[in-house]
Amino acid sequence: MQTYSRTAMFLHWTIAIALAFQLAVGWSLESLGAKGFALYQLHKSVGILILTLTLLRVLTRIYKPRPLASEGGWEGALAKAVHAGLYGFMLLAPLTGWAMVSTDKIKIPTLLFGAIPLPHLPLPQGANAFFDGSHGLLAWIGLALFVLHVAGAVRHHLLLRDGLVWRMVPGRSRAVMIALIVLVPTGFVAGGLLARQAMSSAAPAKTPEAAEPAPPENVAVANAVVPAAENATAVENVVEVVEPVGPPPVWTVQPGGRIGFSVDNGGYAVTGGFSRWTANIVMDPDHPETADIRVEIDVSSASVSDPTQNEMLPGDEFFGVAAHPRAIFTAKSPKATGPNSYTARGRLTLKGVTAPQSIRFTLKGSGLKRNVTGTAAIARKTFGVGNGESSTGIDSSVAVTFTFDAVGKQP
Ligand code: HEM
Ligand code: HEM
Repeated sequence: MQTYSRTAMFLHWTIAIALAFQLAVGWSLESLGAKGFALYQLHKSVGILILTLTLLRVLTRIYKPRPLASEGGWEGALAKAVHAGLYGFMLLAPLTGWAMVSTDKIKIPTLLFGAIPLPHLPLPQGANAFFDGSHGLLAWIGLALFVLHVAGAVRHHLLLRDGLVWRMVPGRSRAVMIALIVLVPTGFVAGGLLARQAMSSAAPAKTPEAAEPAPPENVAVANAVVPAAENATAVENVVEVVEPVGPPPVWTVQPGGRIGFSVDNGGYAVTGGFSRWTANIVMDPDHPETADIRVEIDVSSASVSDPTQNEMLPGDEFFGVAAHPRAIFTAKSPKATGPNSYTARGRLTLKGVTAPQSIRFTLKGSGLKRNVTGTAAIARKTFGVGNGESSTGIDSSVAVTFTFDAVGKQP
């Protein structure tokens, strides 16, 4: 008898068991609400795993020989249609789940199995309700197809007794067949039990943060930060999922970063930079409202390429380093101005003067490894930088640019 390839069998049963688990976890999510943070992460991880396995399975189907259809007529057509429907379900269930979390008002980061960041798909937020509805509906369609599929298998095995089931069972072993079939509902029960455990281990608490079962260290990045009050309302009023949140990551600037400046001086650009500075950054890129930024620059480390101008920098005409060795920029709650772009309105203390100062910056990378690049336009006269005769040709606005890599850590 012709059989499916071992790869096709392995994928068929692994996906079947994972899907059963996934449905049970999925149906528990809503009742768990914000308490099921770790379970949401698991559901998303298993879902993407199913998507990957399904893509492999489709490739296997295209490239590996498989048995011919066992029957024609309407029964054969129905079997074909159910198989096609099952493939559609295996692909669309994870894709709509992914699309749903990508279009949620509150962008919760996903770390697959605590390790691989899952990017958000570039889809309009307005489509969230559609994906949410489709995701829930597909589960029921999948279940109906599964029932038809198993009914077909049982019909072949018990009524027609044509041994069709062996085409999908390695080694034609009865024990293996029973084990595989039993494992499918076992997956469902395991998912349900896991959800139940998550529910009971999450003690009732006043805030969603407190209610969250402590996530393991390696999934901590997936915590999104929403101020407690805002999160609480979201949990009550927003129908979409709101996962609980944790404190924002603390970032360490990596060696090799740069703060530079450039200013026009009578038609040519004077460019330079600061070689010594430190930054304390606490920020969740998805929830910048809780961010706290402080950059401290040792102004005596300023230099420009021209040696004469270089010597002038520490003096009173420019930075007045002796009296004011440090420039300090602080900002809280930057505003997101686009994907990964922010504006922070903060305060700059330079040469003893403190004044409002904005900076713009963008982030690259993902998770806890980011590259930061940004700019600021500094009105030098506000701070009395360049207050002498030799400064008359210098433009009043100094362009500051910065770039550095930062590694985050969940506190
Ligand atoms: C094979 C794949 C999947 C299956 C069978 C599945 C199944 C389910 C089911 C049955 C629910 C409950 C729906 C409801 O009660 O309305 C659910 C909810 C959910 N799923 Fe999936 N899912 C899959 C993949 C994914 C993926 C890949 C993601 C995200 C990356 C995801 C994210 C979610 C979320 C966030 C919810 C909660 C929605 C809510 O409570 O409104 N799912 N899933
Ligand atoms: C206890 C559960 C299950 C049993 C006993 C079972 C049995 C079988 C058998 C015997 C075949 C081969 C049919 C043939 O040779 O014509 C098959 C094929 C297939 N099964 Fe299942 N199955 C089960 C669960 C599932 C689940 C949960 C899914 C997916 C959601 C699924 C998806 C498929 C698909 C798509 C095919 C067609 C393979 C192809 O021709 O590419 N099965 N199944």
